[in-house]
Amino acid sequence: MSTWANLGLQDSASPLMEQLIFFHDHALLILVMITVLVGYLMFMLFFNNYVNRFLLHGQLIEMIWTILPAIILLFIDLPSLRLLYLLDEINEPSVTLKSIGHQWYWSYEYSDFNNIEFDSYMIPTNELATDGFRLLDVDNRVVLPMNSQIRILVTAADVIHSWTVPALGVKVDGTPGRLNQTNFFINRPGFFYGQCSEICGANHSFMPIVIESVPVNYFIKWISSNNS
Ligand code: CUA
Repeated sequence: MSTWANLGLQDSASPLMEQLIFFHDHALLILVMITVLVGYLMFMLFFNNYVNRFLLHGQLIEMIWTILPAIILLFIDLPSLRLLYLLDEINEPSVTLKSIGHQWYWSYEYSDFNNIEFDSYMIPTNELATDGFRLLDVDNRVVLPMNSQIRILVTAADVIHSWTVPALGVKVDGTPGRLNQTNFFINRPGFFYGQCSEICGANHSFMPIVIESVPVNYFIKWISSNNS
């Protein structure tokens, strides 16, 4: 989860988020190079005394400074497209989780396992345990197996919500009447926190998501304890 003074991205907990971080750093590097070059050129213009009274056109330089930025943009565009298609790929999921956005809580359905379903509400500050995370912890966590492909189906019952977990690189809108899907792979155990990220009403800030990533055998135990 994000803690104090963390202005960057959270540590990744999935291969896709790792790729997203790599792409972010790559794009930022190109951005810094362009900013430094243009900044230097603009600064140096102040100390330029040359005047060419007969300058009307410069075909060659116009060609160069048109085509060169287009080529630079390709270095951002092609990796970005690669990532886009990577994020969209569904890789034979072993678990499907359905998550429904409500004003203002999430409800979850494990349709593969005897229709386990539950609501997940934020724990109010006055009911929070001393080691709880304010505005972030929920009463019922989403338990998921690590090292498995997980498909998530997202929809909403009233207005548009968005199921967003930064450490997993997942951000899918839940739209009434539509079913969106994406998939992810959690590569370590732990708690991963997320929040709704569509402005969905008065309590938009108070419908967090908590994923409890556990080894597969623990997940199976959890599933069977819920059935009996
Ligand atoms: Cu649900 Cu914002």
